[in-house]
Amino acid sequence: GKVAVLLGGRSAEREISLKSGEAVLDALRRQGVDAHPFDPSEQPMEALLRQGFSCAHIALHGRYGEDGTVQGALELMGLPYTGSGVLSSALAMDKWRTKLLWQATGINTPRSILLEEQSDLDAVIDELGLPLIVKPSREGSTIGLTKITDARELPAAWRLAASHDSMVLAEQYIEGMEVTVAILGEMTLPLVRIQTESGLYDYEAKYVSQQTRYFCPSGLSAPEERAIQAQALQAHKVLGCEGWGRVDAILDKSSKPYFLETNTSPGMTGHSLVPMAACAAGITFDELVVRILELAHV
Ligand code: DAL
Ligand code: MG
Repeated sequence: GKVAVLLGGRSAEREISLKSGEAVLDALRRQGVDAHPFDPSEQPMEALLRQGFSCAHIALHGRYGEDGTVQGALELMGLPYTGSGVLSSALAMDKWRTKLLWQATGINTPRSILLEEQSDLDAVIDELGLPLIVKPSREGSTIGLTKITDARELPAAWRLAASHDSMVLAEQYIEGMEVTVAILGEMTLPLVRIQTESGLYDYEAKYVSQQTRYFCPSGLSAPEERAIQAQALQAHKVLGCEGWGRVDAILDKSSKPYFLETNTSPGMTGHSLVPMAACAAGITFDELVVRILELAHV
C-alpha cells in the first residue's frame, strides 16, 4: 500500500525532521515502496485517509510528532504507524516522568529536581552539586539546555529552558563519556560512543561542529557493552516503548551508566546515530528503514 512519511511538523526540531524524513523517503523509494511525504503542519491528519495511505512512517521529532499526539490521531484513524504507541511516546517525551519511572524500577539516572522560578537555588546546588545541567523536560536535540558551573548562572539557564517548556529540570552533571544504544525490535545494536570537543553533546556538537567524534564499535569490553545494552533495553521497555528507538546514557569513570532519556523517533539523517549503529551491525540504511516500517502496527 501507499506509505506516508510524516516529516517536518511544528516542533523546534522541525528542520532536523525534514532531513530525517527526506532520508527515510529516499530509502523507502529505493526499496520499491510507494512512499510520499506528509507534513502534518501543512494539512490535517485526516487527509491521510482521503489520500489513500495505508501506513505512516513517523520521521517527526519533538512535540506534536514524537510525543503521542500524532500517534493518537493515527490510532483513531486505524492507520498502522512506526515506533512507540501513545502512552510510551508521551512518557518518553517527558524527561521528568521518564526519570521517575526509571528510579522506581532500578534504572540508574542522574539525580534531578524540577525547577520552579521560586526554587531555592542553594538547596538545588546542595542536592545536585556543580556543574549541573538545566534543561526543558519536553524538548529534543538538547535545545534550551545549559551546563552551569556557577550558581549565579542558574536564573539565566532557567529562563532559557523555561522559554521552551513550562517544565524545567535541573540535573546532576555526570562527568564521563556519552554513549547511545539503538534499539530495533527486540534487539539492541552496537553502542556508539561520542566524544565532543567541549565535553557536552549539545546542539552545536550534534549538528554543527566538525570536531565531534563517533566510535562504533565503542571500544568498551564486550561484557561491559552487553550489560549496558541489556539495561538500555529494560529502560526502553519500562516506558512501554516499541518498534525502535534510542536510549542515551553517560558512563562515569567506572563505566557505570546513568541513563538520560529515550528517544522514540530518533534522528534518521545520513549521519545520525541509529543508522551508524545499524551499519556496524551489518544493516544498511535502506534495510533499517524497511525494518522499522515492517514493525509498524496500530
Ligand atoms: N531528537 C533527535 C532528533 C534525536 O534524538 O536524534
Ligand atoms: Mg531526545
